[in-house]
Amino acid sequence: MKGLVIEGGERLVGEVTVSGAKNAALPALAAALLVDGTCRFTNVPHLRDVETFRALLESLGVRFRWKEKGELEVDASSIEGVTASYDLVKTMRASILVLGPLLARMEEAVVSLPGGCAIGARPVDLHLKGLEQLGVQIELEHGYIKARAPTLNGAQIYLDIPTVTGTENLMMAAATIQGTTVIENAACEPEVEELAEILKAMGAEIEGAGTTVLTIRGVEKLRPIEYRIMSDRIEAGTLMVAAGITGGNILMEGCRLEHMEAVVGKLREVGMEISPVREGKVRAVGDHRIRSADVKTLPYPGFPTDMQAQFMALITLANGLSVISETIFENRFMHVSELRRMGADIRVQGSTAIVNGVPALSGAPVMATDLRASASLVLAGLAATGMTVVSRAYHLERGYEDLEGKLAALGAKVKKVDLDEGLGEQEQGL
Ligand code: EPZ
Repeated sequence: MKGLVIEGGERLVGEVTVSGAKNAALPALAAALLVDGTCRFTNVPHLRDVETFRALLESLGVRFRWKEKGELEVDASSIEGVTASYDLVKTMRASILVLGPLLARMEEAVVSLPGGCAIGARPVDLHLKGLEQLGVQIELEHGYIKARAPTLNGAQIYLDIPTVTGTENLMMAAATIQGTTVIENAACEPEVEELAEILKAMGAEIEGAGTTVLTIRGVEKLRPIEYRIMSDRIEAGTLMVAAGITGGNILMEGCRLEHMEAVVGKLREVGMEISPVREGKVRAVGDHRIRSADVKTLPYPGFPTDMQAQFMALITLANGLSVISETIFENRFMHVSELRRMGADIRVQGSTAIVNGVPALSGAPVMATDLRASASLVLAGLAATGMTVVSRAYHLERGYEDLEGKLAALGAKVKKVDLDEGLGEQEQGL
């Protein structure tokens, strides 16, 4: 069982390059299913979730080749299957992204209903409702979505919630069907915009990329492309918090401030200096005591839910009281109980967390429960006095490419260890 051991108290100083974005890479790989040929993606992050998605696509007959670091060739010339099995889907919910492209390409798909996960029930009802409006026939049987699409036609779709992967699924399903599809109340996260750009590069006709209204005019066929995946704005935000929580000073390559206005606004509000050095290069400085600030997570361009746990770690050490409202997922405070073990003063009431800043956190054995919660615990460990051991650190590997290596290169005392669940705190050197 992999764990991370962190000796807190080191200021992070130095340069770091932000990796490609997980939540842009996954839909890009799904879009490759639409193409009878080989697409080449660069700046693809080496992540557990990317490997899981690769295994899923390979089970459908897609061929992959990792070329140099971050360069991935995806050949979907011959799709041999249309079933995304439960054992793969249950490990990664984003597997649902094969549904739209499989229906468009193969006219059928059998995809396991993704179960819930640590942060919420995360239904896919809006994906299915939109697909049915396009003419897809859907049956739910034995935990699977059995979908057939003999003839698909464009439709006017209104999404009750601006679902990110729902918007992506529908965009991919609509790209090559006859007629025009309009998706209203679409998600406009940068990763959704990037998928629209990828589909347009393949020959799709899409208007409104990056806005809440997408118009997709179906085309006959899409062609192979070469595309560089965007940098990960959530990793960038996580690294900025690492600078803030350690009073550090870091220079970040591959950071696009135009996608991070809500996060950067809040980090400046608590006292950090975030300044552009040049295009794609940003300095983050956290040289003094953090001030308190309230945050409410919202769909883009609001404060991203994927940065909520990391921001909470930072303001546990703020001067004063902060209120965090999580409006996207119903159970995304799993990191709170672990932060409290480290001395944080946090009270949760429903979807609101009240964080009363404390002068210091103390290192402790803590357990990661989900991807961003694990990042939050690592960040808290960087600032805590003494040693923190984060167990179940595999969660981190799902969405961060060598985060511990990046932090260590910036001066953090962090290392990966094998934790024996049977060992007591004493044996683990705590
Ligand atoms: C995407 O998940 C991201 N994952 C998540 O990142 C991110 O937290 C989330 O968007 C919100 O920004 C990927 O892009 C692979 P949603 P997604 O559908 O698409 C409800 C991370 O840490 N909903 O936008 O699954 C849903 O329950 C991950 O990198 C429905 O009710 O999120 C939630 O409350 C975590 N019915 C809200 O909408 C539906 O059919 C937003 O979910 C779909 C969603």
